[in-house]
Amino acid sequence: MNLDVPDSRLVTPAVLEQLREDHVRLARVMRVLEREVDFLDVDDGPNYPLLTAIVTYVRTYADAVHHPTEAKVFDRLLHKGLTPAERHVVFLNLGKHQEINEHSRKLQNNLLEAIHNGNVLTTRRLLEDIQQYLLQQRKHMAFEELHLFPLVESRLNDADWNLIDAELMPGPDPLFDSKLEHFRTLYDYIIEAER
Ligand SMILES: [Fe+2]
Repeated sequence: MNLDVPDSRLVTPAVLEQLREDHVRLARVMRVLEREVDFLDVDDGPNYPLLTAIVTYVRTYADAVHHPTEAKVFDRLLHKGLTPAERHVVFLNLGKHQEINEHSRKLQNNLLEAIHNGNVLTTRRLLEDIQQYLLQQRKHMAFEELHLFPLVESRLNDADWNLIDAELMPGPDPLFDSKLEHFRTLYDYIIEAER
């Protein structure tokens, strides 16, 4: 056996590695969101620019790039002779993407409403919504890490990954990769919060 040649099955495909990294990063953003709600200063009210940056980031990267990438990968799984139970898990998860994307959109609306009407009711509604959103995002990522990613890893071969690669046009993460000026304050906030 030639030990210099790596067994490709032992090397995690770049796309899957990126998806896992996306989860780590989104979890960091969710921790900042949670902190913002937990330590809310009643007199000052929510930090709206920070909340806006978080929701904008989630909508432009997690919902618009990460979920479609996962959808392509999970879609490929459906060609790999899954059991009915496994197929159910894949479809269930794809449905969750729709729910989360819709929730992000709703959260953005609640945020805009709270910014413009800034009363106790709209602020309370926003904070309750954020609590639900945090729970939903975390449950969803944990589900994928526990059920979907291992399935992907065990079923997809090099040919599948080549097909996926050919169809993907992944954009860079605007917060952690491109470090766009637009997200600079959020990025600094995350780093500061993790100290
Ligand atoms: Fe995901």
